[in-house]
Amino acid sequence: MADIFEKVVRNMGPLGAHIKEAHGYFTFPKLEGEIGPRMIFNGKEKLNWSLNNYLGLANHPEVRKTDAEAAAKYGMGYPMGARMMSGNSNPHEQLERELAAFVGKEDAILLNFGYQGVVSIIDAMVDRHDVIVYDAESHACIVDGVRLHAGHRFQFKHNDMESCEKQLQRATRLVEKSGGGIFVITEGVFGMSGNQGNLKGIVALKDKYNFRLFIDDAHGFGTMGKTGAGTAEEQGVTDQIDLIFSTFAKSMASIGAFVAGPKPILDFLRYNLRSQIYAKSLPMPLVLGALKRLDLIRTQPELKENLWTIVNALQNGLKAAGFNIGTTSTPVTPVVLNGTVAESTHLTFDLRENYDIFCSIVVYPVIPKGLIILRLIPTAVHTLADVERTIKAFKEIKEKLDAGVYNQEKLVNAATN
Ligand SMILES: Cc1ncc(COP(=O)(O)O)c(C=O)c1O
Repeated sequence: MADIFEKVVRNMGPLGAHIKEAHGYFTFPKLEGEIGPRMIFNGKEKLNWSLNNYLGLANHPEVRKTDAEAAAKYGMGYPMGARMMSGNSNPHEQLERELAAFVGKEDAILLNFGYQGVVSIIDAMVDRHDVIVYDAESHACIVDGVRLHAGHRFQFKHNDMESCEKQLQRATRLVEKSGGGIFVITEGVFGMSGNQGNLKGIVALKDKYNFRLFIDDAHGFGTMGKTGAGTAEEQGVTDQIDLIFSTFAKSMASIGAFVAGPKPILDFLRYNLRSQIYAKSLPMPLVLGALKRLDLIRTQPELKENLWTIVNALQNGLKAAGFNIGTTSTPVTPVVLNGTVAESTHLTFDLRENYDIFCSIVVYPVIPKGLIILRLIPTAVHTLADVERTIKAFKEIKEKLDAGVYNQEKLVNAATN
């Protein structure tokens, strides 16, 4: 018999295993100061490419003013209770109407957190007779929602329509017997690679197969499409996507989320979504703050234009300098390098301490051994000078990586001592 506490400290998990060397620097770093491209890390200003503050709304003066006034007026408690019991309000319903209209759907409901919301939506929408078909590179919230499913689930290879069709055929055979339905799930924008989900391709399969399509557009909302309504708008398939989800944690620079779709389905979710029925409703400052953010997204198209100016300069500049940025077609900018995990820590340390550039880093086991991905998130509030400085620094660190400079111990010791 094992003691649960002893067991978990013996195996801290793939990321927790590095707690001693990494905590506080590579993991759980503290970025201080006002949110934006320049923040303080370890007491010194860094050029920051690590926040999903795509439109720069986190520190927008009108947003800050609305947030502060709403907090002063309502506090963080109001309204108390779950929406269904005692926590509903006119602004909550207004925000739902405005979000639905913005993404081109009939109705929407607010979710306190995106992660929990997606898990709960999947849980509510399917029963053991139904089959889930989902993209293999789906975000953890989709994976965890699928885990709750008591029926069959089939993964298709990332964005591979042949594989998706094969899984739809398997699913169709099963539901013909069980009397269930098929729920297909993918993302609008994949947050690591920057790939768009092949929404058009999946929608085209609706001609041959009977299924409902749910997309997580966390990174597409505000960044993609003519009006910023997201990846469905970008690919011209809004009407064929049955349910659209997004979080407020990225372009909206806040907390909260929503799902939008046809009214009868949203009414079903209102009365069956366990993550909302059994949880306190979103505090009023977050609701009024979200209304303000949405208003700015709708009325200030220059926010998205500025974002894309930076995205294009950064991605074209990196490509021109010979960097592999994968297959991104969105603001998410991965820079793929070859190196070991140890080299990645030395390189990150050099980039942070000597070039004063802070970005996220992804290594094995999240990606295959031998690869290092530096993930840059351009925003509307970066400048072209920031881009230029970053590309110059990246050229230098790549030269050092290729020359084996990071293949030594001493740099990282200095980082963590
Ligand atoms: C694709 C995707 N879905 C869902 C979430 C979860 O959203 P939240 O932060 O609101 O829980 C995230 C991360 O924020 C995400 O990247």
